Amino acid sequence: MDDRLKSELAAWLEFYRDLGLGEFYRREPEARIEMRKSKIENRGQSATEAFTTSGKRAAVLPIAIPEPRVASPEPRVPVITPPPAALSLFEAPPAPRRERETLDEIQQDLGDCQRCKLAPTRNKIVFGQGDPHAALVFIGEGPGADEDEQGLPFVGRAGKLLNRMIQSIDMKREEVYICNIVKCRPPANRTPEKDEVEACSPFLFRQIQAIQPKLICCLGAPAMKTLLGIKEGITRVRGQIFDFASTKVLVAYHPAYILRNPREEKTLREDFEKIREFLKARP
Ligand code: URA
Repeated sequence: MDDRLKSELAAWLEFYRDLGLGEFYRREPEARIEMRKSKIENRGQSATEAFTTSGKRAAVLPIAIPEPRVASPEPRVPVITPPPAALSLFEAPPAPRRERETLDEIQQDLGDCQRCKLAPTRNKIVFGQGDPHAALVFIGEGPGADEDEQGLPFVGRAGKLLNRMIQSIDMKREEVYICNIVKCRPPANRTPEKDEVEACSPFLFRQIQAIQPKLICCLGAPAMKTLLGIKEGITRVRGQIFDFASTKVLVAYHPAYILRNPREEKTLREDFEKIREFLKARP
C-alpha cells in the first residue's frame, strides 16, 4: 500500500472514530480502495467517496445531509494526522470486538485537560452529567459561570428552564445525559472558538459513542454546527431531525435564547414534544 493511500485510509478511520464509530473491518477481496472527490447527487455538496479497484463504490462520507432547502454543510473532514493505531487497525487481521469505552475512561483520558486556551481560565471542567445509557442526550454550547463553579452542566438559569422542559415530556433530568461542545467556560461566556471546539469535540464524540443514545438534541447553533456542519440559521432548521453516524439529531433553540425571548418558549415546547414522540416510537 503506498503512503498516500495509507494516509487517506488513516484519515477515513480517524473521521469515523470522531463520529463515534469505533469498529472497522477489512474488506477482503477488494482491499484496494481509491478515494475520489465527487458530488452528492442534487445536493451540490462535495464529498469524498471510496471506490474499489473494480469501480464499485465502497463507502461514502457519512455527512448528515439536510434536505435541499437547508444550506449544504461543509464536509466535516478532520485535520489529517494519521494515528498509528488507526493504521494498524486496518493492517492487522480482524481484531476481536472491542469493549465499548466507558464515560469514566473518557473522563480519565481527558484528565486535567490543557489541550486548548480555555484551560487557564476555567475553574472546573464540566464533563457531563446523567445516565451513561441515556436514550436522550442534550448538547449545549459551553459552561457558564454556575457550571464552571460546580463542574456540572446546565445548573444555572438556562439549566432550570431545561429541567422544566425535560419534565414537560414526563422525563427526569437523571434519565438523560447532558453535556456541551466544550467542557471549559469560555471567558465572559463568549461562543467557543474553532480551535477550542476542535480540541474538545473528539471527547464529545467519544461520549456519544459510549452512550449510544437514540436521539441527540442540539441546544443552539454552536452544537448544531459542531455535529451537523450546518451553517444555515437555526430558525430554519430547528425542529428537524438529522442523521449523525448511527443516531438521530434534533435541533432546538438554546434555553438561554428562550430566557431572552420568552415568546419563543412555545417553540421550544413544540420541539420537546417532537422528542417525546420520537422516543415513544422507539421504546
Ligand atoms: N449553557 C450551556 O450551553 N451549557 C451549560 O452547561 C450551561 C449553559
